[in-house]
Amino acid sequence: MQNFHSTDKNNIKSICYYVDAGVANGWGPAVFSLDDTDSWRRWRRAKLGRLEAAIGVSPTPIADSRSISEDERRSLLAQIAATNMALYEWRLAPPDEDALDEMLLAFTRSFGLRALEDHRSANRNGVVRIEVAQGGGRAGYIPYTNRRIAWHTDGYYNYHGPSHCVRAMILHCAEAAEQGGENRLLDHELAYLRLRDADPGGLRLLTHPEAMTIPEAVDDSGRVRAANAGPVFFLDDSGALAMRYTARKKYVEWRDEATRAAAEHLLALIDAEPLARAVKLTPGQGVLCNNVLHDRAAFQDDGQCRRLLCRVRFHNRIDSPQEEKWRGSANSSSPTPK
Ligand SMILES: [Fe+2]
Repeated sequence: MQNFHSTDKNNIKSICYYVDAGVANGWGPAVFSLDDTDSWRRWRRAKLGRLEAAIGVSPTPIADSRSISEDERRSLLAQIAATNMALYEWRLAPPDEDALDEMLLAFTRSFGLRALEDHRSANRNGVVRIEVAQGGGRAGYIPYTNRRIAWHTDGYYNYHGPSHCVRAMILHCAEAAEQGGENRLLDHELAYLRLRDADPGGLRLLTHPEAMTIPEAVDDSGRVRAANAGPVFFLDDSGALAMRYTARKKYVEWRDEATRAAAEHLLALIDAEPLARAVKLTPGQGVLCNNVLHDRAAFQDDGQCRRLLCRVRFHNRIDSPQEEKWRGSANSSSPTPK
């Protein structure tokens, strides 16, 4: 890969886009910067059009998640290329938990997702079960309660540079809550777009390599998680825009007061976003995505049925064929960002 990354990491001019409005569903060679208003306007218009078209689209039915058809794969890839996410609905139910894990891993492998995150709460297959946990290593952490979870991207506390961060994930519903538990989903590229429209100076601050720090934490067993610093918006090692973010107020340190104000502005835009998708996943449904922004409403289980979602995270992202094709040509033609 050529040098598409920042040489001046404080400057948003080095955050560049490769989405070309003229390329359907894919990434193109256009390079965006704050100075490149013409390319920006074209990309912006196309992006909003794709997001508007995605509102209300039903989950894509998948006959057998262990062996998906080319049409099914293309359908999901096209949605992900347009909005960084796709909702699906498996028609074949797994007979037990191990089978569910196998189906999740086979399904995600179909999209080139092989670099699993090593998560402390993952089972031996690399799958995390998100449910109310009363004891064990998961107890006490918000995902394993029935409480609301604020907007975030996954792995914001586990960023180790653009080549080692959470770039994709699957969130799959095995059991839905009796009440609540809805998720809102928001393409992180749209969050970038809105902030660039409203507050380019704030956007610049959120690209600083130490914009947001998650302080050191010690869990009940005495295990220490080191402080984790990084940008909010950055380019990953494939040249795609990525986001590392949490709307939590506690256990988050912003680089300075101006950066904190920019983050508050960003959250106001996210909360007011009309193109966010709201979904209550039902058993067999899920979202496959390039680590988009999401939240969770509080929920209540009844006596018999307990909400259970399964999650797998990956260090690589879901590429569309157009992206792969473009990257091949980018490696040979070496465009230079502004
Ligand atoms: Fe999450």
